[in-house]
Amino acid sequence: MVASIADPNPLVSGQGFARLRAAGIEVEVGPGAAESRELNIGFFSRMIRKTPWVRMKMAASLDGTTALPTGQSQWITSPEARADGHAWRARSCAVLTGIGTVLADNPRLDVRAVATPRQPQIVVVDSHLQTPLDAHLFIADRACIIYAAGQNDAKKAALEARGATVVMLPDSSGKVDLAAMMQDLGRREINELHIEAGSKLNGSLTRAGLVDEFLIYLAPKLLGPGQGMAAFGPLQALSEALELQFHSTDSIGPDLRIIARVAGRDQF
Ligand SMILES: NC(=O)c1ccc[n+]([C@@H]2O[C@H](COP(=O)([O-])OP(=O)(O)OC[C@H]3O[C@@H](n4cnc5c(N)ncnc54)[C@H](OP(=O)(O)O)[C@@H]3O)[C@@H](O)[C@H]2O)c1
Repeated sequence: MVASIADPNPLVSGQGFARLRAAGIEVEVGPGAAESRELNIGFFSRMIRKTPWVRMKMAASLDGTTALPTGQSQWITSPEARADGHAWRARSCAVLTGIGTVLADNPRLDVRAVATPRQPQIVVVDSHLQTPLDAHLFIADRACIIYAAGQNDAKKAALEARGATVVMLPDSSGKVDLAAMMQDLGRREINELHIEAGSKLNGSLTRAGLVDEFLIYLAPKLLGPGQGMAAFGPLQALSEALELQFHSTDSIGPDLRIIARVAGRDQF
């Protein structure tokens, strides 16, 4: 019997192989291991690190602008790139956004452009429970988790009545503890987490070292100043740069798709 890789789940890992071998069946483990791990990288991440594989998606102009100073960002990239983005949403267990994006765009953040057997859960980082009760992200039969930091019992109850799970996770500065949120999402069996937020939350997550890879769509246009991809820095020296490695680069319609991983983050 040939298996590409052992199951990383400590509850079962290696036991099946041991039984087969005990029954006299020859077992070879290994061919295609790298490909299998890539296909299931979220599951491997949760089993081994106890946190999801975190992918941050951004759509930008060639000069790195993700929204105009007016807040307008729909749409910077092509319909083909947006459909491709939906395929990445579809393979994730949850899509995470920030309250800034909810208030600016009122997005649904569901999978529409490709077929899917289920909608990923939605996660909102919303320290002060500002999510409107009529926000489009409330979709029937889709689980919604809101991470908050400040008490507001009436709004919490109203959001829960809307079907949301509200989790209080304050850090010492009164914002959501983002690292603790990743641990909590791991406990909730989120394997792959797909982030589509604005530059503030993107910056906070990046600075906190919580992002594994960036999924970046670049449109062949210049937009000049506006919001960048992730508000972190300014750095004092080039040596402080967050080092990435290109994992893949592809053309999607008229746009470019770059997957760049934080160096070493997939070594677990
Ligand atoms: N082109 C793209 O790919 C793309 C994608 C999504 C959004 N956008 C654009 O981005 C704009 C919105 O950006 P934004 O930066 O205002 O919104 P955002 O990043 O989605 O959300 C910002 C909020 O996240 C919370 N946050 C940030 N750091 C935090 C931390 N360390 N701990 C806890 N909470 C934290 C803060 O909420 P609290 O104040 O509650 O703490 C902050 O106000 C919109 O114009 C939208 O169109 C562009």
